[in-house]
Amino acid sequence: MPRYILGINAYHGDAAAAIIRDGQIVAAVEEERFNRVKHCAGFPSQSIRFCLEAAGISIEDVDHVGISRDPSAHLHKKVLFAATRAARQLSMASARASSSVASVDSETKPDSNGNGSGMFRQIKNRLGNAAKVRDLKEDLARMFGVPSDRLKAQFHNVEHHRAHLASSFFVSPFERAALLSIDGFGDFISTMWAIGERNSIEVLGQVEYPHSTGIVYTATTQFLGFPHYGDEGKVMGLAPYGRPRFIREFRDIIRTEERGQFRINLDYFRHHTEGVEMTWDQGSPVIGKIFSEAFVETFGPRRSPGAPLTERERDIAASLQLRLEEVGFHILDHVHEVTGLTDLGLSGGVAYNSVMNGKILLNTPFKRVYVQPAAGDSGTALGVCFQIHNGVLQQPRGDIMLGAYTGPEFSNDEIKVELERAGLRFEVLNDIELTRRAASDIAGGLVVGWFQGKMEFGPRALGNRSIVVDPRRADMKDILNDRIKKREPFRPFAPSILAERVSDYFEQTHPAPTMLMVYQIKSERRDEIPAVTHVDGSGRLQTVSQELNPRYYQLISDFERMTGVPVVLNTSFNENEPIVCTPNDAIQCFLKTKMDVLYLGNNLVRRQ
Ligand SMILES: [Fe+2]
Repeated sequence: MPRYILGINAYHGDAAAAIIRDGQIVAAVEEERFNRVKHCAGFPSQSIRFCLEAAGISIEDVDHVGISRDPSAHLHKKVLFAATRAARQLSMASARASSSVASVDSETKPDSNGNGSGMFRQIKNRLGNAAKVRDLKEDLARMFGVPSDRLKAQFHNVEHHRAHLASSFFVSPFERAALLSIDGFGDFISTMWAIGERNSIEVLGQVEYPHSTGIVYTATTQFLGFPHYGDEGKVMGLAPYGRPRFIREFRDIIRTEERGQFRINLDYFRHHTEGVEMTWDQGSPVIGKIFSEAFVETFGPRRSPGAPLTERERDIAASLQLRLEEVGFHILDHVHEVTGLTDLGLSGGVAYNSVMNGKILLNTPFKRVYVQPAAGDSGTALGVCFQIHNGVLQQPRGDIMLGAYTGPEFSNDEIKVELERAGLRFEVLNDIELTRRAASDIAGGLVVGWFQGKMEFGPRALGNRSIVVDPRRADMKDILNDRIKKREPFRPFAPSILAERVSDYFEQTHPAPTMLMVYQIKSERRDEIPAVTHVDGSGRLQTVSQELNPRYYQLISDFERMTGVPVVLNTSFNENEPIVCTPNDAIQCFLKTKMDVLYLGNNLVRRQ
């Protein structure tokens, strides 16, 4: 009998589910793709349903279920922290009450007993979240309408960062590797490093609350006027426009210490004093203000969202990015020193900083880097599966995940039904015509919707839910922004390049199949592909191999045959929403934007 393990990231941003059968990945997917709510938290019920469907089993057949939270992990620290903050807030609340301040904010407003009700709400939320994690079995049984005693599965809590580490090792091509998980916080830890060897992971060090590089990045992102969950990538895109003239300030904001440790200057932050409101309900996560008045004293007033970007914002972004890299390399140097290894598995939200990732090979002793495609919190669902399979059950290593194609796919027949339902005229092409026609449309300057095969896991569209255009046309960035993406004009678009041609165009050649590395484009090539060359000459490339995505590979090969350029511009198939999942999502996006053509499987739709 095959053994099924279901992994879940729930009640936290980027809710997701994954399922493996005897150590082989069957499916992994983010809930936002189904419910169309960006980064949605809550319970990933549709993702779980999809995973079971893909495996062809029901919930009663699952042998193990795990969630990437462990309410008991570091419990003593959590309790201590809650108690310290409670005491501090109580004294603040009563001080305010006794000095008869006319208006107090809801956070610390005293109730009739003189207690800070905001504070108690926060502690209640925290405990409530822990209880939800414990009630996972009941939630699952209820969701599928079966009595909970019918679920034979064993339930596991896997600590957040251990799930990240597992996600970057057990599916990596490495027998042994140094591992680093780095993000905001999970289970009270921001950074954890380890050594992975065959089917076990040994944790070697960690950085604890309230110190976190992710928190510094998010706080600065908020200060710069980008308030939404996941906006950090915008600041990373802005950084190359600035000069790091605030690096001294940022070296004071994050200070490195011995043995890979770092501390943040707490004066600049609120999360450890007043606390920061976080909403992890069904919608997109909302995070309250993290930075303190010290940011304003040092850098001037915060930028309002939508206000013009000035040199100051660009320079702050550049300084933040540089400091993140310095601290990242500081940790990595230590991780190398204690492991003696040159292979690295990287995970956590900060591992989405592809600019830093691309410089690891240049600035540290590491020679090979594996970044799990869903390096952020959604990927912990997959990490949980393998932590149980390899770590707990001591099964041998098996699957290697090089691509990210683990989501829903649709047959040509299913696609046709949707096209007919939408009343669209379409042409059916054979495989050879398909890539040739699409390549010629791209070369002709059209905006091409490209919907093929299994949807990607993680934030990047990798040629299955992509919009593809000609990278040789400098005006393509503006055309895409004007007609579809509506993104800030400073944000770059990314190139997909044939794997064997990387050395002709880029300064580095280490594979980047999931678009999580930024390399410098060779100076003599920059004018050839201006639409994917960022202001500093860099590009966040996807290396495309025949093995991982034969149809996308063929498309770029056909484009090269027509133009001599083995590169296309690849941006995610969406318009300010989660990446499209179903043919109908793609059709709706096509209809409401000014995309020129849509290739859905073997079907071609042209705008009339
Ligand atoms: Fe995380």
